[in-house]
Amino acid sequence: MPVALGDRAYDVVIGAGQLATLGDRCADLFGRTRAFVVIDDELPSSTVDLALGALADAGLEVAEAPVSASEETKSLETAHELLRQLGSTGHERHEPVIALGGGVVGDVGGFVAATYKRGAPVVQCPTTLLSMVDASVGGKTGVNLVTTSGLKKNLVGSFWQPSLVLADVRTLASLSEREFRAGLAECVKHGQITANVEQPDLLGWIESRTATLKSGEDATLTELVERNVRVKSAVVASDERELDAEGRASRMILNLGHTFGHALESVRTLSPDGDPSHAPLLHGEAVALGLVAACGAGQSAGLLDESEARRVRGILESVGLPTRVGSLPQVETLIAIMGHDKKARGGRLRLVIPDGARSVRVIDGPPDHLIRAGFEAIRA
Ligand code: GLY
Repeated sequence: MPVALGDRAYDVVIGAGQLATLGDRCADLFGRTRAFVVIDDELPSSTVDLALGALADAGLEVAEAPVSASEETKSLETAHELLRQLGSTGHERHEPVIALGGGVVGDVGGFVAATYKRGAPVVQCPTTLLSMVDASVGGKTGVNLVTTSGLKKNLVGSFWQPSLVLADVRTLASLSEREFRAGLAECVKHGQITANVEQPDLLGWIESRTATLKSGEDATLTELVERNVRVKSAVVASDERELDAEGRASRMILNLGHTFGHALESVRTLSPDGDPSHAPLLHGEAVALGLVAACGAGQSAGLLDESEARRVRGILESVGLPTRVGSLPQVETLIAIMGHDKKARGGRLRLVIPDGARSVRVIDGPPDHLIRAGFEAIRA
């Protein structure tokens, strides 16, 4: 599937067993060069061997760089270490960096590629549902930074489009059920914005397959990823650098559920099922709660019917995602956290809320009662 970005256009290849084609695709794009492969050190060896074997068979010379993937290691220190390794091997600017793993590996690998010798090509090989349907497409790369007021996510980074995205849905088999479900939250989010980018109904498609999605048939997973990438790439093609705050297909609409979600994610004691040993929330779990909160805000703004809000909650629940959370801090505390969200501009928050079942709009400086209604919708 092409991502239409003029001279930065690229393909997203989706399917079962596609990792075996990595070497030939890289040889076609870059020649029989060296390849620097950033690898999530928790990936099963079968996945790593498949990717590295494909590169070697196609005549590429492989350097492996295992990294431990977490929000703490998504740092300038990790990027520095990878850049040091690239520099030590004399990696050339036309030779690819390949990111094999989930969102953290893709973001750090992409950032290292963006900055090494002012920009080397990057190939994204996402291995989680979340990174297949969202993070690997669109060129956002970066690392977190610990500031005097704590860890700030993605504070340092660059837009750097990949040369290729290769999503092998068979790699999803090694995800825990919890991680897989978390990725589905981004899929539901995409379902809620299809009308903004004139894409076919996705919410209904997910709704009628909630049981089969969990069992993970190759064909169903391929179609799931494909339908989501279509939505994501349409948004990216319309507003690559998130500069268009007003447009219907502004990249900002991908933030649906995230402003609420980031606030929830930062409260490290919240858990998806009330069991403290399951805290903190995974990103996708916080997004699921954020989507329900955004629906609550949409209802309060008179833009969404109760039945539509109930439907979104029902879909999330039927795939096993949380839609209510216990021990929620006071709304004032959460509003203060939201004020620090990166989408705030000039002290004014920008909130994306549903406007009907399949479209959203950006509200600049939303009144507190909308935010309050959002948080009340998820309070257990
Ligand atoms: N994940 C949001 C974006 O790519 O803009």
